[in-house]
Amino acid sequence: MGLKNKVVIVTGASSGIGAVIAEEFSAEGAKVVIVGRNEAKLNHVAKNCNDPLIVYADLSKDEDIQKIIDETIDKFGRIDILVNNAGTYANASILSGNIMDSYDFIMRVNLRALIYLTSLAAPYIVKTKGNIINISSVVGSIAPIAPGSFCYNVSKAGVNHFTTCIATELGALGVRVNTVSPGPVYTEFIENTGFPGPWDIYKPGTVLNRISESKEIADMVLFLASDKAKSITGVNYLVDNGMTIKRS
Ligand SMILES: NC(=O)c1ccc[n+]([C@@H]2O[C@H](COP(=O)([O-])OP(=O)(O)OC[C@H]3O[C@@H](n4cnc5c(N)ncnc54)[C@H](OP(=O)(O)O)[C@@H]3O)[C@@H](O)[C@H]2O)c1
Repeated sequence: MGLKNKVVIVTGASSGIGAVIAEEFSAEGAKVVIVGRNEAKLNHVAKNCNDPLIVYADLSKDEDIQKIIDETIDKFGRIDILVNNAGTYANASILSGNIMDSYDFIMRVNLRALIYLTSLAAPYIVKTKGNIINISSVVGSIAPIAPGSFCYNVSKAGVNHFTTCIATELGALGVRVNTVSPGPVYTEFIENTGFPGPWDIYKPGTVLNRISESKEIADMVLFLASDKAKSITGVNYLVDNGMTIKRS
């Protein structure tokens, strides 16, 4: 796929979708930088990758975001691909009375960190004429599928539009920027964040009556990151088993 020796940063690589994205890039010969907070889980993923750089970082902290770039450049001297995959969730009703705590918690990781890390990585990605892939969600562009999820949904809508804006700005410099929006995927997101589950309750909301595996999302990410997608930028790819088109 032309990914050999590309330097790829994957946030949220300790778990779920991000772990499989990192493992697939590594299997293609890329040099992966795996980012997360959970040391045990990151170390486990590292065993499935070829000589990865592990960066323990909390994306809610600006200094940790800077550390991701510093350690990547120290070890590899370049950045080709950034996969902004990390995400979090908190349940909150607009009537809860303390909505701004949930809003700030989610936006800080799902949107602010993504924008800050992109801004720090972009000068390096311009040099390599690489690309950026943002992991959003189907709920960034459809009516809510879970009650109390509006902060999360708004954060993902922000990711979608950020992609469009930055694809426009960086396109002239040879950098592509795309979004992948999964529908429900079997991961530990429910256990990790309290997102309403179990996953199988979302099956009837899809045309194909199924939930995805992380590999299905990783396959789309690798395609978009590769030269096969050289004409594709500013696009939001739905990998949602037809959740977006389901009407009844
Ligand atoms: N699963 C789904 O159905 C689904 C559907 C649509 C979109 N998505 C999106 O897909 C992405 C991956 O989710 P997933 O399903 O794979 O969930 P997951 O298994 O819970 O993984 C989430 C990842 O994000 C990282 N993360 C969360 N908060 C962080 C923070 N403050 N600092 C650093 N890393 C942080 C976690 O790492 P640590 O815990 O190690 O910090 C973990 O690696 C997310 O953006 C999610 O919104 C998932």
